[in-house]
Amino acid sequence: MDNPILTRAELEARRGAKWAYFGPDHLPSWVADMDFRAPEAVTEALARLVAESDFGYAIRGGTLLGPALGRAFAARMRDRFGWEVDPARVLACTDLVQGVFDTVQAFSAPGDEVVVQGPTYDPFREGIEDSGRVMVVDHMRYADRGWSVDLDGLRAALRDSPLLLFCHPHNPTGRAFTRDELLAIGEIAIEQDAVIASDEIWADFMLDSAQHIPFASVSPEIAERTVTMYSAGKSFGLAGLRCAVLHFGSAALQERFHATFPPRMLGGANIMGVEATTVAWESGHAWFEQVLDIIRTNRSRMEAFLEQYGDRLDAAYPTSTYLYWVDCGRLGLEEPPAEFFKREGGVVFTPGAEFGAAYAPFVRVNLATSPEIFDQILAQAAKALDNLSAAGPHG
Ligand SMILES: Cc1ncc(COP(=O)(O)O)c(C=O)c1O
Repeated sequence: MDNPILTRAELEARRGAKWAYFGPDHLPSWVADMDFRAPEAVTEALARLVAESDFGYAIRGGTLLGPALGRAFAARMRDRFGWEVDPARVLACTDLVQGVFDTVQAFSAPGDEVVVQGPTYDPFREGIEDSGRVMVVDHMRYADRGWSVDLDGLRAALRDSPLLLFCHPHNPTGRAFTRDELLAIGEIAIEQDAVIASDEIWADFMLDSAQHIPFASVSPEIAERTVTMYSAGKSFGLAGLRCAVLHFGSAALQERFHATFPPRMLGGANIMGVEATTVAWESGHAWFEQVLDIIRTNRSRMEAFLEQYGDRLDAAYPTSTYLYWVDCGRLGLEEPPAEFFKREGGVVFTPGAEFGAAYAPFVRVNLATSPEIFDQILAQAAKALDNLSAAGPHG
């Protein structure tokens, strides 16, 4: 049986940015990486490639790696989400941020507006602005401890834009959108003739009974204009292996994409990434269920913590992802709350401002670690908050 838990000593010895960047004096709860050992089936498959020095041009199941990954993706979508996909509509790429840049450049022109939801995963902004496009933010609404899409705002924003860059489930709020919401958003995109680029890297992390619904699976009309982005990087802790897929919901969309990026221009798939991804998708189910249980445990602990500090902290209950998006505005701090928690508690959360200036009072907390380490993170955050109370309301 796999044991995904890594101890603090093991984590501190790793080279990954999450633990190495701020050093041993800080507990990291920032970048969206997990603190878990990958499934044994994956590490064994990679070890076999290394032991056999099997690094040449490769085939899997009788085809080159790109088509093999397309087939593995189609099987994954069918088995996990009940969505039938044509493997020929899949393109292997290195990572989802590359997918974001590519779709922005293929489906909009320099100077065009591209619409995102706020709060916004920062590489969406980079993909838009570094490509010479203009980012237009449709801010999500917050009420009764829940985030939802502002559909009127979306309609207005898409009036002058050819592309909606959508994050589903949503980083950082942890919202997984319902079929009705996706249908309403999709209808607006159809009405305004916009392409939908749906980043579904978080799709596997459904924490309660609801199922993830691939945006392109909602209706054939929506599929026709939807590019889906997905990988095993987030779910199986394989981000460093750089392997992802883009799926085009129609041949016309795929042709438009290839008019900007001919099929081979983005490079081929990497043997280690394809091996790890396909093995994880085929054999990682039990491992992933263990990981989801750990995330649920930490989510409960975070809920208890928020209850304790409910007069000063506010957050929606995430039903997806391993992220908790916490409004610290009522602390009355004169500095970004992530700075305060880092200095006073020795814990590193992601600053809200990374998701847009309007979100400066927030922090994003990462639940994907052992319950033992997560308890320590909360204890240190609590100490910082208790010291603040002792120093007065605006200490
Ligand atoms: C919504 C979203 N898309 C993409 C990524 C990064 O994907 P990749 O490492 O494949 O570029 C992340 C990582 O946190 C993410 O949250």
